[in-house]
Amino acid sequence: QVSPDIQHMLDAHEVLRKFYHHLLVNTKDGEHALEYLLGRGFTMESIEKFQIGYSLQSWDFVFKFLTKRKFPLEIIEKAGLIIRREKDGSYFDRFRNRIMFPIFDRSGNTIAFSGRSLGDDEPKYLNSPETPIFNKSKILYNFHLARPQIKKFQHAVLFEGFADVISADLAGVENGVGTMGTSLTEDHVSVLKRNVQSVTICYDSDNAGIEAAFRAASMLSHADCSVRIAVMPDGLDPDDYIKKFGPERFRHEVIDASVTLMAFKLLYYRRGKKLQHEGDRLSYIEEVLTEISKLDKAVEKDFYLRQLADEFSLSLDALKEQEKQIYLSDR
Ligand code: GTP
Ligand code: MN
Ligand code: MN
Ligand code: MN
Ligand code: MN
Repeated sequence: QVSPDIQHMLDAHEVLRKFYHHLLVNTKDGEHALEYLLGRGFTMESIEKFQIGYSLQSWDFVFKFLTKRKFPLEIIEKAGLIIRREKDGSYFDRFRNRIMFPIFDRSGNTIAFSGRSLGDDEPKYLNSPETPIFNKSKILYNFHLARPQIKKFQHAVLFEGFADVISADLAGVENGVGTMGTSLTEDHVSVLKRNVQSVTICYDSDNAGIEAAFRAASMLSHADCSVRIAVMPDGLDPDDYIKKFGPERFRHEVIDASVTLMAFKLLYYRRGKKLQHEGDRLSYIEEVLTEISKLDKAVEKDFYLRQLADEFSLSLDALKEQEKQIYLSDR
């Protein structure tokens, strides 16, 4: 029931996905790309499962390949696979000499690609543009494969990167999906909300990832999704962590040990502070009280106030008093 143009776009992605994959796993041209992936800890099994491929170092391979198969040029261009040169109207391939990650819709159709450079070439990841078949803000990477597990556990794990989703899958976390960057959209939230009751956010442990985790957590909470956030040592992303500490520790010490948004905030305020020093301790207490003042539920407030009182041997009354002042002054 799809239009002929759309069908051409889907078919072009399908034949290219297969060919990119073939180039990676079976050919001399793809050997260095395969070595790069295996060197990073990808396995043949995950390369197969995620249908990873390789695009040749060529300006017109895709152009010729699809023209020979009678795909109309305007359609391939609209699908984002080739780009038209303004000056003479000729075309060149969008993806060249990159590791190709096919992006699937929920039915398993290939609708876009993301290509990772092999070295330090910029951009590190090059995505298909928005096209009639690809709306980045609606697609969660790996949703089609993860859906059965996601439904079964009523739970999903949210990653920011392709490598994170794939490494986690290999580590036994098969209900992972990726946002392909750090921004979760309201459309992503709706997809998750329709399928799960709870989400664990497992973003990179760097400033961008931490800030994005706060944003994602608040969006999901507002949609009444129960949220936890995974904590990793500074500077690591999930893929790095798994390489460094192994799947077992990833599952138990990161995923299973994920914390509530409030606990994550408390950890965040502790970063870089020396709490044995009075000045740092006081600013930490002030920050925590400010967070507590934003809570809606009296019981939650009481819980965290008591926890703070216990930890620093402070009077609960004094903390309550100060929290009230902050609450009133921020209104
Ligand atoms: P690796 O170095 O391959 O492990 O990548 P990463 O996933 O750790 O990259 P990073 O944490 O920097 O970015 C997370 C995700 O953001 C990536 O998986 C991509 O989906 C996306 N991303 C990263 N860099 C770029 C870029 O240069 N352009 C675009 N469009 N997306 C990017
Ligand atoms: Mn294969
Ligand atoms: Mn990142
Ligand atoms: Mn990363
Ligand atoms: Mn990474």
